[in-house]
Amino acid sequence: MKAWRVAALGEPRDVMRLEEVADPVPGPGQLLVRVLGAAANFPDVLMCRGLYQVKPPLPFTPGVELCGEVVETGQRVIGSPSGGFGAFAEYALMDAGNAWPVPEGMPDEKAAALYLTYQTGHVGLHRRANLQPGEWLLVHAGAGGVGSAAIQLGKAAGARVIATAGGARKVEVCRELGADHVVDYTAEDFVPVVKEVTGGHGADVVYDPVGGDVFDRSRKCIAFEGRLVVVGFTSGRIPEAPANHVLVKNYSVVGLHWGLYRTKEPSLIASTHQALTELVESGQVDPLVSEVLPLDQAPRALAKLADRSTVGKVVLVP
Ligand SMILES: NC(=O)c1ccc[n+]([C@@H]2O[C@H](COP(=O)([O-])OP(=O)(O)OC[C@H]3O[C@@H](n4cnc5c(N)ncnc54)[C@H](OP(=O)(O)O)[C@@H]3O)[C@@H](O)[C@H]2O)c1
Repeated sequence: MKAWRVAALGEPRDVMRLEEVADPVPGPGQLLVRVLGAAANFPDVLMCRGLYQVKPPLPFTPGVELCGEVVETGQRVIGSPSGGFGAFAEYALMDAGNAWPVPEGMPDEKAAALYLTYQTGHVGLHRRANLQPGEWLLVHAGAGGVGSAAIQLGKAAGARVIATAGGARKVEVCRELGADHVVDYTAEDFVPVVKEVTGGHGADVVYDPVGGDVFDRSRKCIAFEGRLVVVGFTSGRIPEAPANHVLVKNYSVVGLHWGLYRTKEPSLIASTHQALTELVESGQVDPLVSEVLPLDQAPRALAKLADRSTVGKVVLVP
């Protein structure tokens, strides 16, 4: 089969090679799936650079989420490949206990984008941040993969959603996703806008995949008893919150490492998948897939993600 391989670490477009490799052979408890769609995610970029928390031995096949057809049964499933990577290929292995049925009638490309960012968003907003109806939710990088999922999930939870995004096109995307207010944070400071829109209350929950200055500024407009969810660091800088500031303003900094629940509490992944399936069926969740590209375009997809030019998800189809 054809599979993308990374034999040395670096920028995806420099280090990814499309190779002919042996088809994977399922071991006990594993499924062989034909990949129908594999979504590109920022962690793929970080993994190629060797900067992700998961550091696969070289060479490895990137790709952390997929929609596939189980070769033995023909059932369509979504999830991560066994071991957490390996989706950018014609076939992949999945753990049978971690392959989730595609909601009825959902197209392959959309299903390929329903797993990682939506699971993260649902667990982050509900389990970690305890988001309540009517609360103010501030979603950073709202037009991105993680952000677009959080806007839809925030609205579905009955929150009032303020999104930030870089540039006019992304601002429009956030509006279309359902955000109530959107700030172009590359042109305007979001802090006074959040204060004004919330009538001085601030954001009850901040969902932050960007880190750096965006995290620092978020601490200036978080509400009393607010929850600042640490999702990622696409800005490239890991920020710090002074404990005295957390104390004086009475807010919480909440870590989110969704992948840990796969081993710590697998039943949460199952119940979250069920909740997401119902949200798809009721039309409240509809993953934004902005581009569907052939598998041989994988380095291009990751380069676009890295240079900030994607919205929603880009999905690769073998
Ligand atoms: N905690 C978890 O369990 C978990 C799970 C999944 C993903 N994540 C993390 O969530 C983050 C987002 O992942 P994603 O796949 O959804 O990516 P993405 O949001 O689709 O793309 C990254 C976005 O970050 C923003 N950004 C700000 N500064 C940037 C910079 N210097 N370089 C690149 N992008 C920058 C850009 O939006 P603007 O142009 O609008 O600023 C860009 O579109 C990643 O850090 C990922 O590792 C965490």
